[in-house]
Amino acid sequence: MKYKFDWKDKIKNEELEKVIEIIKTNGLVLVPTETVYGIAASALSDEACKKIFIAKGRAQDNPLIVHVSDKEMIRRLVKNVSDIEEKLINAFMPGPFTLVLEKNNVICDTASAKNPTIGIRMPSNSIIHEIIKESQIPLAAPSANISGKPSGTCIEDIFEELKDNVDCIIDGGECKIGIESTVVKVINNVPTILRPGYVTEEDIRKVCGNVRLSENLFKKVEENEKVESPGMKYRHYAPKTKCVLVAKSENQIAKINEILLENEDVCVIGFKEDRDLINAKKYINVGSKYNLEEVARNIFSALRKVDKENVDLAVIEGVEKEGLGLSIMNRLVRACENKVIE
Ligand code: TXA
Ligand code: MG
Repeated sequence: MKYKFDWKDKIKNEELEKVIEIIKTNGLVLVPTETVYGIAASALSDEACKKIFIAKGRAQDNPLIVHVSDKEMIRRLVKNVSDIEEKLINAFMPGPFTLVLEKNNVICDTASAKNPTIGIRMPSNSIIHEIIKESQIPLAAPSANISGKPSGTCIEDIFEELKDNVDCIIDGGECKIGIESTVVKVINNVPTILRPGYVTEEDIRKVCGNVRLSENLFKKVEENEKVESPGMKYRHYAPKTKCVLVAKSENQIAKINEILLENEDVCVIGFKEDRDLINAKKYINVGSKYNLEEVARNIFSALRKVDKENVDLAVIEGVEKEGLGLSIMNRLVRACENKVIE
């Protein structure tokens, strides 16, 4: 890393020029978005996008999301937009929403991993927005983490992991949402959620009348299986510590306490309200179970903190799989590599 900029309070103009120069010369910039931090580079350049894959250790067939500043830029990058797609764009952009569209040949093949489609997202965070708007370059940006690790939601969590892999780091403070965007593709005229996120199934139903969840959101997908989204195949969000997830049920807390009786060296990742009911020596509080937005904001940091506790096992308290809870559970099931106690 050559530069580290602090834009927590405001975007600094001379530094913005430097960032644009780095993007234009095919370098990598760690940038904040409202969901999670991203490792950004020019989506127009194979050379730049190849560097992203190397920096993350990302599988070659897993396409990147391309970030734009406005609708005009979307038009420049894709072939056509159907009425339903237009509705989705108008309802959810800018925001934590990615729409998979048919690409033309402006975006490089490395960004799309040679797919005919590309995920397009228009972030609402003013820092990444300003970089795209001022440079007029669409930015390919996957979540800022080494592939397989939890996504980064503040610079402190990812600085050591990524400092040698990028040219510039921009600190924009903590990400407001904390989990990645909802990825949607319209298949046979039905909006299909390929990755759940902050925009929920219900939100989309309200706009389009119908919506479908991909069947693979909670399944363990094999490496050679054909899936709607390559990201579904890979190990994700996993701490080094072995984790189990205890699903929401009437006796969820009793089950957690049972595991604590059988295992010595355990850390629990749980809710504020349950701290005194759970007999754990080590406890990471992810916030209130009545405030899933708070839980979403803290979950990736909690998954990173647990590795610092040096325990044999992490036990995670699950939430109901509905609304934002479905998106949180999607991340947790993967963090536990599908080890879920129902
Ligand atoms: O919130 C976000 O979306 C963050 C921030 C940085 O914008 N980005 C992000 O990117 O989460 P990444 O690369 O970590 O995850 C992108 C996901 C992957 O699961 C990938 O497989 C899927 O989106 N994806 C990307 N392009 C796709 C396409 N053309 N078709 C289907 N799935 C696609
Ligand atoms: Mg990711």
